[in-house]
Amino acid sequence: LARGASEPDLAGRHVVVSAGGTREPLDPVRFLGNRSSGKQGYALARTAAARGARVTLVAANTHLPDPAGVDVVRVGTAVQLREAVLKAAADADAVVMAAAVADFRPASYATGKIKKKDGQEPEPIALVRNPDVLAEVSADRARPGQVIVGFAAETDDVLANGRRKLARKGCDLLVVNEVGERKTFGAEETEAVVLAADGGETPVPHGPKEALAETVWDLVAARLG
Ligand code: CTP
Ligand code: CA
Repeated sequence: LARGASEPDLAGRHVVVSAGGTREPLDPVRFLGNRSSGKQGYALARTAAARGARVTLVAANTHLPDPAGVDVVRVGTAVQLREAVLKAAADADAVVMAAAVADFRPASYATGKIKKKDGQEPEPIALVRNPDVLAEVSADRARPGQVIVGFAAETDDVLANGRRKLARKGCDLLVVNEVGERKTFGAEETEAVVLAADGGETPVPHGPKEALAETVWDLVAARLG
């Protein structure tokens, strides 16, 4: 799978990448969020553009410079991310879901700031499920042959959990990372295994997030034919 640094093997292709982490508001000043920095998604967007693709980057709450030549769509919540990804996916050859999408959101949004009440314990926060964007784009492919890639951060039984998740989501490729206290979130480097629905397993040694991104695009390009 060796290629030159700027071989335009994705020329004429439209790819959609989601990056960052969604935030689910509780009231005007508070949200439920996660630690995703967006670095892996931005690396995917940069490398796809370098390989000639037209890139739509759906960025959730990231603080990174816009990659040159990439169409950036900013979103906050999982519901907004779903809308932006589905819209961009309509004419896409590939969709890569690198974003950390909140599984749940507060069941209700307080339009005024939630205040403490004297001598009272707080009310529990009721949550509801968010839509599963990866499962949805995988089940309703916007065009035949569209390649769908998911990411999964796992702590134990990493490969077995990854295989189950790949089957459950219905995507073509699942990039599985092992996470721990200092691993992956916000880090410059990463280590992963890319599982394929056809049984393939591609280990990616510890290295820059760009290297993992290049491997993902190699596997996507091979499936686009
Ligand atoms: N994902 C998504 N929509 C959600 C949750 C996750 O599209 N509501 C996508 C993520 O972008 C990622 C993949 O699904 O590409 C796997 O996310 P993960 O959180 O590992 O999967 P879950 O099905 O939410 O499983 P878990 O219960 O382990 O969190
Ligand atoms: Ca999840």
